Amino acid sequence: MADKKPVATLSYNGKSIELPILSPTVGPDVVDIRQLYADADLFTFDPGFTSTAACESSITYIDGDKGELLYRGYPIEQLADKSNHLEVCYLLMYGELPTPAQLADFHQRITRHTMVNEQMHFFFRGFRRDSHPMATMVGVVGAMSAFYHDSLDINDPWHREVASIRMIAKLPTIAAMAFKYSLGQPFVYPRNELSYAGNFLRMCFAVPTEDFVLNPVLEKAMDRIMMLHADHEQNASTSTVRLAGSSGANPFACIASGIACLWGPAHGGANQACLEMLREIGTVDRIPEYIAKAKDKNSGFRLMGFGHRVYKNFDPRAKVMKESADEVLELLGIHNNPTLQVAKELERIALQDDYFVSKKLYPNVDFYSGIILEAMGFPTSMFTPIFAISRTVGWISQWKEMIAEKNLKIGRPRQLYIGEPRRDYVDVTRR
Ligand code: SDX
Repeated sequence: MADKKPVATLSYNGKSIELPILSPTVGPDVVDIRQLYADADLFTFDPGFTSTAACESSITYIDGDKGELLYRGYPIEQLADKSNHLEVCYLLMYGELPTPAQLADFHQRITRHTMVNEQMHFFFRGFRRDSHPMATMVGVVGAMSAFYHDSLDINDPWHREVASIRMIAKLPTIAAMAFKYSLGQPFVYPRNELSYAGNFLRMCFAVPTEDFVLNPVLEKAMDRIMMLHADHEQNASTSTVRLAGSSGANPFACIASGIACLWGPAHGGANQACLEMLREIGTVDRIPEYIAKAKDKNSGFRLMGFGHRVYKNFDPRAKVMKESADEVLELLGIHNNPTLQVAKELERIALQDDYFVSKKLYPNVDFYSGIILEAMGFPTSMFTPIFAISRTVGWISQWKEMIAEKNLKIGRPRQLYIGEPRRDYVDVTRR
């Protein structure tokens, strides 16, 4: 007899229905509730999607208890040690590590798309110089759909491919332009002989008045930061991109929505908020005061860079980032960096404190990244734009995976309505 497919039985209101159980490659089984409303006139309730799988995906897997992160099955630690961001972009986009020829071709296609239409330079003129670069990026990336009309048809696989390559290639250029605009400095054009990370550093820090010397250790550290932030399952900004994409919106608009969501301090804005918090703490002796604030529900204060919806163990990216922070500061001869000292002592104290231990609040990817970026010379306002550059390949890969689904449905959650029942209008003279 064929194996009986596993089911979960739900009994309610005198009725009993069977819900199929679906099993993943790795991770917890899921209850398929697609028929629940039709069969039992019931919705499920899960604000923040703490227990809800919104899609099938084969791109990234996280085991929060083990502190494991896999890109297409490869552990992040191995990729951070042996790979580079462009190779990881290929892996996330196409599912396999590239052959040398495939990597060279991909590198060439990305390199040939790093410039933006010259007309886009005028967009920046409309922003105040002190605009947050994320505001500029949301605007300029969304406006890409006003230019690249030959890659807007989401039903054309070639259009999807070209739009994907364009965004991976142009996000560093746009972010660097936002940075230069905020400095009042001229834009720096990309150079085809440089690496992806090296090009970005040069576009940010080169000036017309002198030759730019790229520091290979900083180039490697930037490339590693980009790899570590590339994708992370169905996080808030990726879910935003998927929801926007499910309506058939063009890819540039979808990525712009992801950038907007990433900006929040609970998400990609945490690296900026974390460094500002470390600076506000200032010295090691003030750490207990902030630990107490973080534990006080009424304070509204949280330790930025700590905690995670999925990781209930160390974020594996934070471990790699911590090693990079030590390397970069060592290279730059920045010993006893007060911010790094506060960060390390804060981590040590928090990991001994029962509040954080009981709630499994560990440092996340944002805890150390800001220290490295600050040491490289970036202002805190550029931390989240750099996260956005990196996450673009994750957003694009997840968007492509969704658009290629056969029976793609527009995302449209239901609700638990707790408002007024039906009632009749009351004329103003009788209120
Ligand atoms: C990123 O989803 C992803 O994958 C995101 C990301 C990615 O790569 O895309 O990994 C990138 O966004 C990392 C997270 C960056 N955010 C921060 O560092 C901001 C600080 N962290 C928190 O705001 C919080 O931890 C979240 C938002 C990250 C996770 O929040 P959850 O899972 O919704 O958990 P919660 O808010 O329900 O907190 C659980 C408990 C609460 O206490 P109780 O109500 O149970 O008593 O832990 C407490 C919280 O008050 N808590 C914290 C805390 N984080 C959670 N208390 C103090 N400091 C913190 N940082």
